[in-house]
Amino acid sequence: MTDLLSIILAAGKGTRMKSDKIKVLHPVAGKPIIKHVLNTLDGLNSKIVNVVGHQKEKVQAELEDLDMWDLNYVVQSEQLGTGHAVKQAESYIAEHEGAVLVLYGDTPLLRKETIAEFVKEHQQNNSDLTVMTAFFDNPEGYGRIVKDQEGNLTAIVEEKDAAPETKKIKEVNSGVNCIDSELLQDFIANMDNNNAQQEYYLTDIIEFAVNKNKKINTYTVQDADEIIGINSRKQQAEAEQILRSRIIDQHLTNGVTIIDPETTFIDAEVEIEQDVTIYPFNYLEGKTKVAKNTVINQNCKLKNAIIGKNVEILSNTIIKESKVGDGTNVGPFAYLRPGSIVEDNCKIGDFVELKKTTVKSGAKVPHLCYAGDAEIGERTNIGAGTIFANYDGENKFQIKVGKDAFIGSDSILIAPLTIGDQAKTAAGSVVTKDVNSGDTVMGVPARIYKSQKQED
Ligand code: UD1
Ligand code: CA
Repeated sequence: MTDLLSIILAAGKGTRMKSDKIKVLHPVAGKPIIKHVLNTLDGLNSKIVNVVGHQKEKVQAELEDLDMWDLNYVVQSEQLGTGHAVKQAESYIAEHEGAVLVLYGDTPLLRKETIAEFVKEHQQNNSDLTVMTAFFDNPEGYGRIVKDQEGNLTAIVEEKDAAPETKKIKEVNSGVNCIDSELLQDFIANMDNNNAQQEYYLTDIIEFAVNKNKKINTYTVQDADEIIGINSRKQQAEAEQILRSRIIDQHLTNGVTIIDPETTFIDAEVEIEQDVTIYPFNYLEGKTKVAKNTVINQNCKLKNAIIGKNVEILSNTIIKESKVGDGTNVGPFAYLRPGSIVEDNCKIGDFVELKKTTVKSGAKVPHLCYAGDAEIGERTNIGAGTIFANYDGENKFQIKVGKDAFIGSDSILIAPLTIGDQAKTAAGSVVTKDVNSGDTVMGVPARIYKSQKQED
């Protein structure tokens, strides 16, 4: 659509976060800050250059799923300022004609509609430089927008360089700029670091452009929250709150019932279908998906969980990296650990822990059970207190229980083990050997009580 070059500045460590992890990799609503910024370019059809430095491999890994985009990386090995960061993308800028969009990698609340409109306005006005601004009641920490009496932008002054009068200005620099490629090249060839922080400021481009009589505009974003930049954990928490309430609003608009928005936490990439009901104190994280008519009772945590339709998740359930099929009930107090697949119309009851376990359609694990590295066949019932003993202290082994089987209460199944279709174990059995289809075993260790074969 637009012939655009976008440069994202993400090389800084983010000292004020006081973290081993660089700032742009910290999450807001479960997604790294830089990814929020990148997502605002969705649909712009832009070539993108990420300026990276600290932990560049990690940044690259985070953005891997945007690989279909024209994503490029340049390295700024020493962080000498935002102007110096842009300079690292010099060769891309020189190749490009027209508008260069510069974004700071620490502004996760920008909306893609705002970015699209901003770029459009810059191009329609034939501007050489457009700066996105906003008004803050408390502008502390941001570069101030200095205008002359006619309202023309004349400079951006950083907090640390600002005189008391300038500090009173409430219009601030967002860090979002559209700059004509030639002007930008000219500026980066001539910029200096004569300021309080001895950094090469990109913001100095304003005065540079004024001196060259360039066409300069500001674009003021109405919802000032959009331009919040994250420098500290406090700002991260503020952004988190704002984004979460935006996400909740979106789901409410889409037809999801959220009983208490204040105590419901839904990450940015979660998908929820219509007529889902979510009770208070729930966390839906990562790439969780919830299909139609499902009810999630209070106090659950779902992380990268794929939940079918008409599911009921009872309170205090945790589901991680697992799938739950249509019409299944889970919980209360169930724990589905990574790699579990519970198919349709099953029941996973209270105090049941599953790990890497597949429960086939119609099977029931109603109470008090651990199953790891297992497969439970269609319509099989696992009695209360059953333990799938999958670990001998050194290695883990598989257990397979066939379909229509009945595992008596308090059975212990010792892996590796295969229990056939329609087989039964009596209550309290410790099953150490495979059980043939249709056989019943009992005792410790379990022995055949009734064999299908003998009866035939
Ligand atoms: C910057 C602006 C300020 C603006 C604010 C908006 C400058 C000089 N100041 O201040 O006017 O109001 O953002 O949020 O531009 N970065 C690099 N390399 C560097 C320095 C920074 O890649 O050498 C990256 C950082 O990783 C960050 C972004 O640029 O993502 C902004 O840098 P930061 O230090 O946060 O700038 P602010 O002090 O917030
Ligand atoms: Ca910042």
